[in-house]
Amino acid sequence: MNKAATKEKYDLQFASEVDKGLSEHPKHLPTRFIYDDEGSRLFEEIMRLPEYYLTRAEQEIMNTYSGEIASIIGNEKFNLIELGAGNGEKTATLIKQLLEEKKTFRYVPIDISEGAIAALHHELGRQFGNLKIEGINSDYFEGLRWIKDHSGRRNVVLFLGSNIGNFQLDHQHLFMKKLSQCLKPDDYLLIGFDLIKDYELIRRAYFDGAGVTARFNLNLIHRINRELGANFNVEEMGYYSAYNPYKKRNEAYVYSKCDQEVEIKANNKSYKLEAFEPINTEYSYKYSIADTDRLAAEYGFDVKGHFLDSESLFTDALWLRK
Ligand code: TRP
Repeated sequence: MNKAATKEKYDLQFASEVDKGLSEHPKHLPTRFIYDDEGSRLFEEIMRLPEYYLTRAEQEIMNTYSGEIASIIGNEKFNLIELGAGNGEKTATLIKQLLEEKKTFRYVPIDISEGAIAALHHELGRQFGNLKIEGINSDYFEGLRWIKDHSGRRNVVLFLGSNIGNFQLDHQHLFMKKLSQCLKPDDYLLIGFDLIKDYELIRRAYFDGAGVTARFNLNLIHRINRELGANFNVEEMGYYSAYNPYKKRNEAYVYSKCDQEVEIKANNKSYKLEAFEPINTEYSYKYSIADTDRLAAEYGFDVKGHFLDSESLFTDALWLRK
């Protein structure tokens, strides 16, 4: 598909998923659309928040275990594919190690934000003059197609940041099934999971004092206004988030503080929001080590290792496709 057609398909999906989500009870909005260029900029801010332990924990894991991970990967030629690459800071640590050990690979970051891909090319190109980068601006599922079409050499897929946790369970299943199908025996997957811990610590990571996570989630409302011709009164909207230990997930919501009738031109429709009616924007699932090992087995992987930070907040699990 060419770029314009892909963009058009993406816009249509955005409009129809927003329609579906606002027409159902309880209401919800599609998480993956939070993450446009502005969303990815706000997420960079989140990663620097004192409350947001995930990035620091995973960076520590990379600092400590890059060497061990590199030696397990071995010396055969491979594609280093990253799904949802973001700013690539954690990956840079691994790439540095791989280059120092003179491994032969090309780096294929895949991200839904065009700005993020451009920044990665610029930044990693500057840091590593001899790194082969082939960035792709697409969603995960398009990215999986790339993997399938380039299976001539070993694939090492990175899926970091506990992004797996942002899927609804049915989508997580679909994604894992497809990912498993796209990989061939002896391909690797390095996959990040945020571990179950003190509930309050989790809650604060998604409800920071400076209100950045609120802006990150409300960015979705701004996007709907801008891109779908809607008239949400964002000034009257708030953000709420809590950890649900029973469901093992943090739940994030936006809501209107007053009754609103919102028109969305792209859908030719109006939607009624009642005062304080919750609209779910994201889930972030949390896992025990046993939960992640069960997932590996379910989708045809052997667990080669778990790499945890010193406080056991987070694990990067290294899986081998059987
Ligand atoms: N995966 C990360 C987390 O669960 C970051 C994140 C939170 C995120 N909300 C998101 C990524 C929404 C994409 C979309 O903390």
